[in-house]
Amino acid sequence: MTQGIDTLRQQFESDLAAARSSREVEAVRVKYLGTKGSITLLTKGADFAAMPPAEKKAFGKAFNELRAFAEERVAAAKGAADAAEQRDKSRNLIDLTLPGTERTIGSIHPVAGVQMFLEDIFRGMGFMVETGFEVESEYFNFDALNIPSDHPARDMQDTFWLTNGELLRTHTSASQVRALRQYGAPIRAIFPGRCFRYESMDASHETSFHQCEGLMVDKDVSVATLIAVMQTFLNCVFERELGVRLRPGYFPFVEPGFELDLQCVICGGTGCRVCKQSGWLELVPCGLVHPRVLAAGGVDPDVYSGFAFGLGLTRLAMMKYSIPDIRLFHSGDLRFYEQFPAVF
Ligand code: FA5
Repeated sequence: MTQGIDTLRQQFESDLAAARSSREVEAVRVKYLGTKGSITLLTKGADFAAMPPAEKKAFGKAFNELRAFAEERVAAAKGAADAAEQRDKSRNLIDLTLPGTERTIGSIHPVAGVQMFLEDIFRGMGFMVETGFEVESEYFNFDALNIPSDHPARDMQDTFWLTNGELLRTHTSASQVRALRQYGAPIRAIFPGRCFRYESMDASHETSFHQCEGLMVDKDVSVATLIAVMQTFLNCVFERELGVRLRPGYFPFVEPGFELDLQCVICGGTGCRVCKQSGWLELVPCGLVHPRVLAAGGVDPDVYSGFAFGLGLTRLAMMKYSIPDIRLFHSGDLRFYEQFPAVF
């Protein structure tokens, strides 16, 4: 009799393996475990009733095992079939003809973009990138740069003073002496960052704007080195070769000091409204680092020389993207920001 049980078990297993859906699994359950199912009927017939007690006991045990096994397998197969059907159902719920959900990914602020761009160019020329402090001491912002408290140059850079005597830096030049003290010479570094000035706002002046300081100190650094570095980086920024010229400019922390002009990016030098018919755009104040500044940074001016420049990053962004009013940068107007790419 137990041989019959083994055969039934094999049939059950092959029927269940062939069931492809929960409905088919249910049909197998009814076929074997339902009230008239072939497993259920094993102990209902006259054959079973007529079995001698010892055989009945062995058969009953085998029957119970088969029924438990079949119930367990049916439950597992049903669970798997239900889950697969659920997955299919939710897949069918996606309507591929509906328009997609638009995701706005934002854009990079034009000043941040130009800053990243400059950082790449200067890193390529061996400069490190430092940011310095927006809250500075009077000493590093002025005195260490050869601008003592009675110097008229302080009037050109009025700023916001904190109650503890510190100030919001007026220029990134404030990082020069800090860096010289920290790294010594030779050094090549740029310091991009925010500056603050207490002044009236108009289309080209803000109370908060970005500059990028550059500092290179080494043996035999000259005006020729300064021009070569500036020309290389401006060619990269404007993606073509443009002429530069130096005019004398006064800053107490450089000697000699210059204003570096760039051939007008709009007219190429022939004269237009933007360059006021001169063919040149005033772009970067610069010069050779004053010996007193080197000494304040602990660098011997008899051994080392250097150049520094203070580029107006915000103004450069205005030039690169033909932005007519500096106040747009902090306007919070999305129509302005959305015009810039998300990746630079
Ligand atoms: C300076 O700040 C010097 N520290 C630059 C320097 C560095 C000279 C190293 C020599 C050696 P100036 O005040 O000119 O210089 O400012 C430099 C640039 O910052 C300007 O050319 C301009 O592009 C930008 N800038 C200055 N004030 C403002 C302002 N209120 N709003 C927007 N940009 C400004």
